[in-house]
Amino acid sequence: MSGRRTGAELVIVGGGVVGLAIAREVRRAGMDVVLLEKGRVGREASWAAAGMLSPLGEALEPGPFLEFGLKSLRLWTSFAPTLEEETGVELEFRRCGKLRLAFSEDEKDRLGNRLRWAHRRGVPARWLDGPEVRKAEPAVASDPRGGLLLEEDYRVDNRALGEALVRSARDSGVEAQEGREVTELRVQGGRAVGVGLADGSRLDAEAVVVAAGAWSGSLEGLPGSVPVHPARGQMVALQPSAIPSDRVLEWEEGYLVPRDDGRVLAGATEERVGYQRAVTAGGIRDVLASAVRLAPELAGAPVVELWSGLRPATPDGLPVLGAHPEVENVFLATGHFRNGILLTPVTGEAMGKLICETESSGIPEEFAPGRLARTAMDEVTSS
Ligand code: FAD
Ligand code: GLY
Repeated sequence: MSGRRTGAELVIVGGGVVGLAIAREVRRAGMDVVLLEKGRVGREASWAAAGMLSPLGEALEPGPFLEFGLKSLRLWTSFAPTLEEETGVELEFRRCGKLRLAFSEDEKDRLGNRLRWAHRRGVPARWLDGPEVRKAEPAVASDPRGGLLLEEDYRVDNRALGEALVRSARDSGVEAQEGREVTELRVQGGRAVGVGLADGSRLDAEAVVVAAGAWSGSLEGLPGSVPVHPARGQMVALQPSAIPSDRVLEWEEGYLVPRDDGRVLAGATEERVGYQRAVTAGGIRDVLASAVRLAPELAGAPVVELWSGLRPATPDGLPVLGAHPEVENVFLATGHFRNGILLTPVTGEAMGKLICETESSGIPEEFAPGRLARTAMDEVTSS
């Protein structure tokens, strides 16, 4: 412990892609930053993800979430090459497109509705009927009613992203410490003065960012609660003799993401089982059933890896980004749920602006940390 610093201008709790992207951004603006990670950086949800960058694929309606995702995807096109150049890490950032398939009339109607509002918003998307799907994607199951083609979707290697972000952050002067579990935020007179760690040590700070993913609600010391909970996702990697498609293929029950090395990532469950990270027989059965339903020839493909991760979920499905409603020098950056990889560049940029007070952050008010406490209060007062 001797020689370890006792304070920093900004302490960031959590070394997933969210904490790392913010660290990189604020360090570039000249701040003195220490990032504390309880395990190894980039090894939780950020490592477990499938790497799809799909604003329309994940948005259920037009609105702030879609706009934030579209903005992030635009940023990705310069963020990826810059990060690769800075670090030498190949991110496998590819404009692969996505085909979202409908196997039922209900799903066809839902996708048709999504197509209409996508067009109204000017997002490029196209409908393929059943025969067109079979022509475009011969390996796909023979009975789709059609599919929504999103040609502007990308994919990235999220594990490489974590590696590149920590390398870039450290090279620019961020002190990223691993094996450092924060247990409490030390708050005095309505302001954070630092953090307390599981080993009994303390670190003073002028400001603190909580970017602890699914664990963001577990820290002691903050008034109120951070209503983020874990949503487990189980995944399987297959190594077929030929990938079924260069595109991401998706339907209601799951998705297939191709990788440059010929693997296909099949995902994913979405389970509320607390902090259990086990890979289970039932979960993997469901993921494999979905994969083979999409592309039947995958039934013969060797399974090469199984894993799971905990998505940081919120009650309304939106991220939590901004200053804590009661402790103004604590910033929350969490709740990215199914889209933290997509939202990495825009989160880093927006939180950087907010923390450094350089210019307006552009964070939608719908993502404000106080909204969830307000919703709970509204429910109490109206009942
Ligand atoms: P994490 O990566 O979980 O990082 C949080 C970090 O905080 C962890 O490293 C943790 O150890 C650390 N930490 C927690 N508590 C403490 C503490 N007390 N002290 C110190 N450190 C602490 N998103 C997409 O955009 N596209 C996808 O295709 C996609 N696919 C997914 C598939 C699966 C199966 C899963 C699970 C997620 C997927 N996601 C996807 C979502 C994405 O992975 C997450 O939204 C994103 O990684 C969240 O990043 P994070 O930094 O907030 O969390
Ligand atoms: N975005 C894909 C997932 O979370 O499984």
